[in-house]
Amino acid sequence: MLDDKKLTKELINSLSSVTNLKDLELIEIKYLGRNGVINDLLKKIKEIPVGDRKEYGKKINQLKQEIKRLLETKRLELSKKKSDKFFDSTLPGKTYPKGSLHPITYTIEKIASIFQKIGFIRVSYPEVEWEYFAFEVLNMPKDHPARDDFETFFIDAPSDKKMGKVVLTPHTSSGQVREMRRVKTPPIRMVNIVKCYRPNWDITHNPMFYQFEGLCIDRSINIAHLKGTIDYFAKEFFGEDRKIRLRPFHFQFTEPSFEIDVSCGVCGGKGVDCHVCKSGWLELAGAGMVHPEVLRAGGIDPNKYSGWAFGFGPDRCLMMKTGIDNIRILYNGDVRFLEQF
Ligand code: PHE
Repeated sequence: MLDDKKLTKELINSLSSVTNLKDLELIEIKYLGRNGVINDLLKKIKEIPVGDRKEYGKKINQLKQEIKRLLETKRLELSKKKSDKFFDSTLPGKTYPKGSLHPITYTIEKIASIFQKIGFIRVSYPEVEWEYFAFEVLNMPKDHPARDDFETFFIDAPSDKKMGKVVLTPHTSSGQVREMRRVKTPPIRMVNIVKCYRPNWDITHNPMFYQFEGLCIDRSINIAHLKGTIDYFAKEFFGEDRKIRLRPFHFQFTEPSFEIDVSCGVCGGKGVDCHVCKSGWLELAGAGMVHPEVLRAGGIDPNKYSGWAFGFGPDRCLMMKTGIDNIRILYNGDVRFLEQF
């Protein structure tokens, strides 16, 4: 009465010549539709002897599942073929907009890692700072020109008898005494990288900029260590062929004090007719041996310990490395510039 093997064979046969979904649908109707093969078979159940009906029904169900499976397999095959037809492997792929680190962020990470390699711990001391840490403990008397409001941003906030007024820190040196008081007993090897603020605005000055302060305090630390460290940094950051030199200078909080120059990468230090440096050297940083008074303010005995400090701008380093000649372009958020990094 029910030759399921024959029926499946027939179905497989007719499916093998089907090439589109429309024909597949016709076959589906033929087998599973209201007047289709399966329903016809079900209707015939009345003609089956009562004892065999259960077995007969089970067989039809199995057949129905098998038909459904075969149809579904074919459907998958056809839809896959359809997309295969449109696949052109020579078409360029989709490109998605890609972000990148801001060049200053990249530079800061690079500088920090160069110093971390030789054991300096990275810290970030406050950008909104007391006059006490920014000037007082750094030997800068009340009438020092840097404490004028032409040079420093003062915050409109209540002042403190000991701490003085609140300022936006004009340099990272304000972290020196904070670090000494945190560590208490040398050795100290700190790099303080934060934003600094000064009311200047031209192609080499932006009111907000970054500074990078190195501080090293231990027994018998001397100028040779300072020079060696800066030399190591210049070679790591700018390249093996760079040289540095120390020029005597004056800062209130270091004695002796220096300005540090790095040889110009454009002219290779020759200087003659170089449009970038004119002298063969570029000014890199301020530095010096930490003043005994500053050590004392940090609770460190200057008879036992000595140290050096330097401070410079990552933005300036980046400019010297890449030839960018306007600092403000680094901070105005113009994507046409930023996309080049
Ligand atoms: N703080 C100084 C400046 O901003 C730089 C400096 C740092 C000098 C550390 C000496 C020692 O110009």
